[in-house]
Order: sequence, then C-alpha cells, then structure tokens
Amino acid sequence: MDPIYHRGQRLDLRPISMADAEIFVRWFNDPDVSQYLGRDVPLTLEEEKKWIEGRVGDAANQILVMVHRAERRPIGTVGLHGMSGQNRKAVFGIQIGEKEFWNQGLGREATELTLEIAFDRLNLNRVELEVYETNPRAIRVYERAGFRAEGVARQGRWIRGRYVDVRRMAILAEEWRVRKSLTAASEVCQT
Ligand SMILES: CC(C)(COP(=O)(O)OP(=O)(O)OC[C@H]1O[C@@H](n2cnc3c(N)ncnc32)[C@H](O)[C@@H]1OP(=O)(O)O)[C@@H](O)C(=O)NCCC(=O)NCCS
Repeated sequence: MDPIYHRGQRLDLRPISMADAEIFVRWFNDPDVSQYLGRDVPLTLEEEKKWIEGRVGDAANQILVMVHRAERRPIGTVGLHGMSGQNRKAVFGIQIGEKEFWNQGLGREATELTLEIAFDRLNLNRVELEVYETNPRAIRVYERAGFRAEGVARQGRWIRGRYVDVRRMAILAEEWRVRKSLTAASEVCQT
C-alpha cells in the first residue's frame, strides 16, 4: 500500500515514486493541462525519470501525488518548490492531470491541504505562486484558499501565439491562521 503523507476529505497526498513517471509524462504532455504550466516542449520518460530521481532526499522541493481515495487512483500533483530556510517560503504548484476530475472542488481541497503542510508541518511563513490571467479556474481556487494578488507581470509569458499577463499571488502564515480560526469558529456555530 502507498504511504499517505497527508489526508484530506476526498484526497490523500502521498510522496512521488519512480512508478509515477509514465502517468506524469501523460499528464504533462496533455496540451489542455500544459497550457497552464508554461511548459511547451515535449516531456520524455527518460527526462521524467531523471527528474524524479533528483527529488529523492530533496528537502527544498516537496512534490506530492493527489490520490482520489474513493477511486483509488492518482489524479494530479501538488508541489512546494524552492523552499528557502532563511526566508521560510515556497512556490506553490498544482495540476490535476486527469481532466475528468476538474471542477469538483478537488483543486481547492488539494490547495488547502498543501497550505496545511506548508504552515502547520513545515513552519513556512509565505507561499507564493504565479498564474496566467487566462486561467480563471485556478485564480478562483487560489482566491478561495486565501491567496492575495500582489501584482501582474504584464505580457509576462508567451503562450501559444500570444503574450499573457501573469498574476502573482501569495498567502502568509498569519493570514492562513486567521482564516483557519474563522473556519473553526463558523463550524462550532453551526453545530
Ligand atoms: C486549476 C486546477 C488545479 C483547479 O482544480 P479544480 O479541481 O478543477 O477546481 P475546483 O473545482 O476546486 O474549483 C474551481 C473553481 O473555479 C470556478 N471556475 C471554473 N471554471 C471557471 C471559469 N472559466 N471562470 C471562472 N471560474 C471558474 C468553479 O466554479 C470553482 O469555483 P467555486 O468553488 O467558487 O464554485 C485544475 O483545474 C487543473 O489542474 N488545471 C490544469 C492545470 C492548471 O491550470 N494548474 C494551475 C496552474 S497555475
């Protein structure tokens, strides 16, 4: 059985393994997925295996696989990248490679679980990200999880024939703790 690193309501997060290489290659070569990830060159199995190998013992980059518990299958990944000890921050990344699972609230759940890991387990102070303005679904997920916009890099990326603006967003540990206590309080009121 796969080790579970963090458990949510519908999702479990587990560490990546070499056995994931093939499915990752399928996900990251799917243009519907990769158009939002800024990668426009084909990903090979060899490259992906090498990348996974490099993640062993890599404390600065924590990549986790989202497993749909009821379906018992991996559907995507989340990552805390470039963790920096002095600044206690990381860059958040997410992709649900199995498109049939989009728009079911799983992206939001995975984002919130990753923030729990970032702030409660790893004691980070800031989680930041970049998202294309052409990706309103992701922006909505980040806003609902508590990320705040910090600015826009105008025409920051060339994606498939045009420049797109890139929104920078971040959430601080103190903001996340306030949100968490407000959620807990509203749950108490409802019981
Ligand atoms: C982005 C992604 C992680 C979101 O996960 P998801 O499970 O599909 O999203 P959720 O169902 O949790 O939430 C989607 C939200 O966006 C809203 N939404 C969906 N399409 C939308 C659109 N075109 N415009 C505005 N909002 C939209 C939904 O109504 C929902 O909001 P709500 O919770 O207020 O109802 C997932 O779709 C994905 O992996 N996409 C491809 C890769 C990617 O874009 N990664 C992010 C790169 S920054």
